[in-house]
Parts: sequence; C-alpha cells; structure tokens
Amino acid sequence: MGKLFYGTQSGMSVSVAEMIQIALPEWVDEIVDIGLAQARDLQNEDFLVLGGGTFGAGELTTDWDRFWPQMDEVDFTDKKVALFAVGDAWAYGDTFCSVMRLFYKKVRERGGEIIGHGDPAESYKFRSSASVINGVFIGAAIDEMNQSHLTYGRIARWASSVREQLECTAVESTNPDSVVIISSLSAV
Ligand SMILES: Cc1cc2nc3c(=O)[nH]c(=O)nc-3n(C[C@H](O)[C@H](O)[C@H](O)COP(=O)(O)O)c2cc1C
Repeated sequence: MGKLFYGTQSGMSVSVAEMIQIALPEWVDEIVDIGLAQARDLQNEDFLVLGGGTFGAGELTTDWDRFWPQMDEVDFTDKKVALFAVGDAWAYGDTFCSVMRLFYKKVRERGGEIIGHGDPAESYKFRSSASVINGVFIGAAIDEMNQSHLTYGRIARWASSVREQLECTAVESTNPDSVVIISSLSAV
C-alpha cells in the first residue's frame, strides 16, 4: 500500500487524484493534500504517487513549492514513486505538464525509483514538455481543460504500467523460487 500526495491551485488535480486511487485501489490507500503533509508522511511509505497542477512555465503549484525544501529531508532509497501532472496543452503548449520533470529529478537525486510511464507524446497536441523522455511521458500527463474525455484512458494505461512494476517487485520478494535462485547464485 502507499499514498498519493497532490498539489493544486484550482482544484482540477483533486478529481484526477481520486481517479488514480480508483485505478490503483490495491496500492493507494489515501490521497493527501501536500499543503497538509510533513516530510515524515512521505518517509513512512514504500510506494508514493506524487503530482498535481503545472504552473508558472512548467513549475510547481504554490503548495508543492512551499513543501519542496522538505523533499530534501526524505530519503527515497528503496521507494518506488509514480508521477502525474495536470496541465493545459493548448494554452501552455511549450511547457505542457513539465512539472513532472522536477519530481523525477528530485526523487532520483534522493535515491528513489520512478516507476510507470504515461502515453507517447505523439498522442497529444503540444509543442514541448520537459516530462517527455524517449518520446514517452514519464508519468500520467492529464489535460482536464481540453481533453477531459481522454483522462480515464490515460490514467488506466499509466496505472497498468505502474501496477506491472509494483507486482513484479512483490513477486520477486515473495516467490520462494527467486529465493532459491538467489541462494544458489550466492553459493556459486
Ligand atoms: C498562470 C498559469 C500558468 C500555467 N502554466 C502551465 C504550464 O506551464 N504548463 C501546463 O501544462 N499547464 C499550465 N497551466 C495550466 C494548469 O496546469 C491547468 O489549468 C491545470 O488544470 C491546473 O490544475 P489544478 O487545478 O490542480 O491546479 C497554467 C495555468 C495558469 C493559470
């Protein structure tokens, strides 16, 4: 189990967070407003979903911005982190959902692993985004302003890639066969 932490300016990310919890019910047991969170709330989880709205030119919401110094108090080692961002591809097409890249960078700097991937960039209409690596979004990129009808499918596809990586790890750590393989390897 894990928790989702979101930031929002105008409330769009709340319903997106709720949809994510519905898509990952076995992995997200609580949705938390980052404005009400402490570093230890993130530290206590092995799996985290982080995200929210995109502001400025591809930047954090005010609540995430206030929390940001506390990200340096969290040791993300052994944590798996999945990302989402809500943006507006038509009005802010040069920095569409670019905020995810800030999360990506910070979590990896602090030892965490980013899991899951969003849809290919070519399935959206925007000019550029820092959150695209090798042609694919590094998390769920959501546009409630212009394409809310596509949100459910985007979240569902991202969630299945997140689940795949989480279940793969869970099987590795509980499957007695993998223990046999690891112990026979260490015997060699
Ligand atoms: C001042 C301002 C700056 C914005 N900058 C971006 C941006 O750089 N990239 C983007 O994709 N969306 C941008 N947006 C659009 C918001 O991210 C979008 O409206 C989103 O739905 C807001 O989510 P929220 O209601 O959870 O805060 C911006 C909106 C405003 C008002």
